[in-house]
Amino acid sequence: MQLQLISIVLILHCMEYTNCQHHGSKHLPNKQGSGVSCQGGCQTCSVMLPTDTCKPKLFIHLERDGMRQIGVCLASCPNGFYGTRSPDRNDCIKCGSECDSCFNRNFCLRCRAGSYLHKGKCMESCPDGLVSSDTMKECVPACPADCESCQNSDTCTRCAPGHFLLHGQCHHVCPDEFEPNDSMECIPTVHCEVSEWNEWGPCSRSGKTCGFKWGEETRTRTVLQNPSPMGSPCPATSEKRECLVKRRRCKPKGQRRGEKKKRFNLQEKENGEARRERKREREKETIDREDSESRNKTEHRPRRDQSRDAGTV
Ligand SMILES: *[C@@H]1O[C@H](CO)[C@@H](O)[C@H](O)[C@H]1NC(C)=O
Ligand SMILES: *[C@@H]1O[C@H](CO)[C@@H](O)[C@H](O)[C@H]1NC(C)=O
Repeated sequence: MQLQLISIVLILHCMEYTNCQHHGSKHLPNKQGSGVSCQGGCQTCSVMLPTDTCKPKLFIHLERDGMRQIGVCLASCPNGFYGTRSPDRNDCIKCGSECDSCFNRNFCLRCRAGSYLHKGKCMESCPDGLVSSDTMKECVPACPADCESCQNSDTCTRCAPGHFLLHGQCHHVCPDEFEPNDSMECIPTVHCEVSEWNEWGPCSRSGKTCGFKWGEETRTRTVLQNPSPMGSPCPATSEKRECLVKRRRCKPKGQRRGEKKKRFNLQEKENGEARRERKREREKETIDREDSESRNKTEHRPRRDQSRDAGTV
């Protein structure tokens, strides 16, 4: 009913202006045809109003031409208008004021500059989570460039194919010191880290640490951090070098039974030396103990002394 009202309004408009003109003749019936006649006020008029104006299926479109209103028959309504069909006439009706193209009165398809389409409506500003796109005149997901889905305009959560995600942004290649993982995200490149070398091991030869002159000693270090696929690989964790040992006899402790007899004399001879050595060691231990005892005493001296010492230093 509203549409009919609008039609009537438009018709009245047409009748207000004189000189409705032939326009868009392509769509018009033959001038002499029964479909063409003019209403009061129209001297030359290509459309007959209010009924049987255009061929069936064509829409009547009224255009302003300066002060005049011109009726035109069109196969489809121009931008900014939508078509309504009724048994006796088809009209082009203007879309909402911010709408450039619409499906019907309530559903805009394209907005005019300065407003943005969201669910068929033209809005001056987009709802939360969306941003206005001036090129599309639409509210679009506020995703950064090359981003397929995002939290907001700053934070991408999934990049378009061929891009890698880092800190919410999409990159063609991961930046230096980053590398892509299986889910196309840039992760920091991790380089191998090893500890300091441990002390050199005992000088040995064929697993024995006695009875030779030239041997080999080994030192090791441990991997503290395994590298990521593109990180620098781990260096050797052990190394050997030649070493020179003062040739010394293997101690009886390490001897096997068979060797015992063979080495007995040698051992006897050595025993004297060994005893002397043990005595020396005992003496040394005593000295060490006394040393440490006296050191303990020193440490346990009253605090006053210490602070005085510290003061004098
Ligand atoms: C890739 O890295 C991201 C961020 O560290 C992580 O959440 C994801 O689970 C990783 N994917 C794989 C397959 O390791
Ligand atoms: C000296 O003190 C340390 C602890 O401070 C202790 O372990 C050590 O046995 C002490 N030495 C002697 C000989 O008392």
